[in-house]
Amino acid sequence: MSAILPLGASLYDRVRRVIPPFEWPVFAEDVEAILDLKRQRNAVVLAHNYQTPEIFHCVADIVGDSLALARKAMTVEADVIVLAGVHFMAETAKLLNPDKTVLIPDTQAGCSLADSITAEDVRLMRQRYPGVPIVTYVNTSATVKAESDICCTSGNAKAVVESLNVPRVIMLPDEYLAQNIATQTDVEIIAWKGHCEVHERFTPADIRQLREDHPGVTVLAHPECLPDVVSEADFSGSTAAMSEYVGRQKPPRVVLMTECSMSDNVAVEHPEVEFIRPCNLCPHMKRITLANIRMALEQNRHAVTIDPEIAGRARMAVERMLAV
Ligand code: 13P
Ligand code: SF4
Repeated sequence: MSAILPLGASLYDRVRRVIPPFEWPVFAEDVEAILDLKRQRNAVVLAHNYQTPEIFHCVADIVGDSLALARKAMTVEADVIVLAGVHFMAETAKLLNPDKTVLIPDTQAGCSLADSITAEDVRLMRQRYPGVPIVTYVNTSATVKAESDICCTSGNAKAVVESLNVPRVIMLPDEYLAQNIATQTDVEIIAWKGHCEVHERFTPADIRQLREDHPGVTVLAHPECLPDVVSEADFSGSTAAMSEYVGRQKPPRVVLMTECSMSDNVAVEHPEVEFIRPCNLCPHMKRITLANIRMALEQNRHAVTIDPEIAGRARMAVERMLAV
């Protein structure tokens, strides 16, 4: 530990289980600068569970899955919100707290699901299935949300679908999330063909191999995984639900079939659990770094703006979800 710079040494304690001592000096200066800038600018950092540990554990004020970030964004009182996550998350924060400055450190931090569908596609689905409500995953642009009746996240999709009290819904754009929810409800679900480029890469064969190589391992899979993967897993839930599962059940060995930083972030809290780590990186989440969070605060960039007419309709879809 003597290799650690005195600067930020106590912060290092939070991440020492997942960041080797020789790497910490690379992060320490940016961490200290961000903490200072947050005070100067009356800013908070909201970080998704897929952010790297030095962001998640050292500079974030609020962490969670998409649902928690949306709920908490609504009540932020600080002047500035930096969203350490992908663009749709920053848009959702802006929709729910429009008077705040919401900064996304890299505007290219997108999402393959958000890219899989346009507002025009949603209008065509509405024409094709008149009267069938449209449930849209939050992993979409504000323009797509604006064409939708209600949003959902992986944490509340079943509850949202069933809250509508209809026999049939359209669920956009994640085909696998729609198929996974369809196995849990009597509501008929019409899906779109969008996929998460990170979760679609896991296969049932991966799970079988893991069980062979690591006897007794508990397998948790995000619902954006293929239905065949989810059905072979021991548990499926949102990133927050997976994290809570580990905290509650304390499995001796666990594998999280999801983005790589999840295991690091959860492992910090649970030294008694062995994490097996085949994982896939989300290139969009990984565009957010300490350096660009610092620059966002120093230079007030990149402020999220949404056309007010679109924002009004998109906000309604998100607020309906939050009311479920
Ligand atoms: P959660 O809402 O479960 O955090 O998922 C967000 C996401 O982008 C998963 O890939
Ligand atoms: Fe989008 Fe998948 Fe990355 Fe989540 S992990 S932000 S769904 S591409």
